[in-house]
Amino acid sequence: MGLTIGIAAETASGEKRVALDPPTAAKLAGAGHEVRVQSGAGVEAGHPDAAWKDCQVVNDTSALAADLQILPAVGRPAGELLEKLPRGSLVIAQLAPHRDLDALKQAASRGISLIAMELVPRITRAQAMDVLSSQATVAGYQGVIIAADISPRLLPMLTTAAGTLRPAQAVVIGAGVAGLQAIATARRLGAQVEAYDIRAAAREQVESLGARMIDTGVDAETEGGYARELSEDEKNQQAEALAARLARADIVITTAAIPGRPSPKIISAEMVAGMQPGSVIVDIAAEGGGNCELTRPGETISENGVIISGPLNLPSRCALHASEMYARNIFNLMQLVIGEQGLVIDPDDEVIAGCLLAHDGAIVHPKFKE
Ligand code: NAI
Repeated sequence: MGLTIGIAAETASGEKRVALDPPTAAKLAGAGHEVRVQSGAGVEAGHPDAAWKDCQVVNDTSALAADLQILPAVGRPAGELLEKLPRGSLVIAQLAPHRDLDALKQAASRGISLIAMELVPRITRAQAMDVLSSQATVAGYQGVIIAADISPRLLPMLTTAAGTLRPAQAVVIGAGVAGLQAIATARRLGAQVEAYDIRAAAREQVESLGARMIDTGVDAETEGGYARELSEDEKNQQAEALAARLARADIVITTAAIPGRPSPKIISAEMVAGMQPGSVIVDIAAEGGGNCELTRPGETISENGVIISGPLNLPSRCALHASEMYARNIFNLMQLVIGEQGLVIDPDDEVIAGCLLAHDGAIVHPKFKE
């Protein structure tokens, strides 16, 4: 049975991505679903209204929301749109349930089901639905592009008639999904790269990308493969080893995060004071407060000649490709809720159980129920 699926224009300031792209929308339309697109929704991701073949372009959210069954979105839809959604419809988006759960509770109480994409469990079966990974890949790449842009240096080694330039020295802190992409991007631009992560397991991946792993003697990997918070002693040990590396770095990219917690502060003001003038820190963790004590989220500042950038929403800067990957993640997840008889939300499915925030009139996710 065909469903009604609607793509709204994102409303968060600076958001250029769109939840589905014309190819995924066409696939859904081809499978017999009615796909509506709010006029202009894809423009900033490179998809003007004319690109949405087989979809119906509508002018406002009222036309979009009427009889709608699934609303895929990038960020949390505006309250005004949530209010217009019919009872029994499903929103699939990065809903940020840690922030202002009340607005989501309200939607839930009106019988709207909510799936939070950032809660999709990181199990093999759900890898193709993992927006944290797909968007972190874009962020890692973009972080290096920004560093190259604001650095006063060229990154590669160059031998020219005007002399030889040495390659830039890059340090990447946090070698998860974003960090590994940052390493690969910096290497492609010709920098020499060292990387650091508190999970010793990251060494193999760092080295397979041609970077050197910095050994601080601290390993803080937990059972799930994620990092835990460090003790004071461990933090001091880490700081000492890193300060020496940062003092000779030209470019530093920081990506360290601990799920559900503010970004760990890894680079102190003192460490920045020991860095060379003209060196650059791009703090990809700025969204969570930043890994550098001096980072100002959303700003680029200069501190004794060291340029510190704290960019926000990096994936949006590469809106076309970030949307393409996001759309595939969403499309794959939608296959779990589109049944022969229409919309089917099965709370017993392991993936759905992990990311289903609200259903049947209430918040149902164990982490957010209370
Ligand atoms: P993340 O965004 O939570 O953190 C980024 C990195 O920062 C991590 O590698 C973490 O170890 C590191 N970090 C945290 N505190 C630090 C500190 N004080 N100093 C230095 N580094 C610090 O992590 P992300 O990128 O989302 O993934 C982390 C892990 O999850 C990796 O092992 C990755 O391979 C795994 N993963 C598994 C997936 C799956 O099985 N489906 C999918 C994606 C990731």
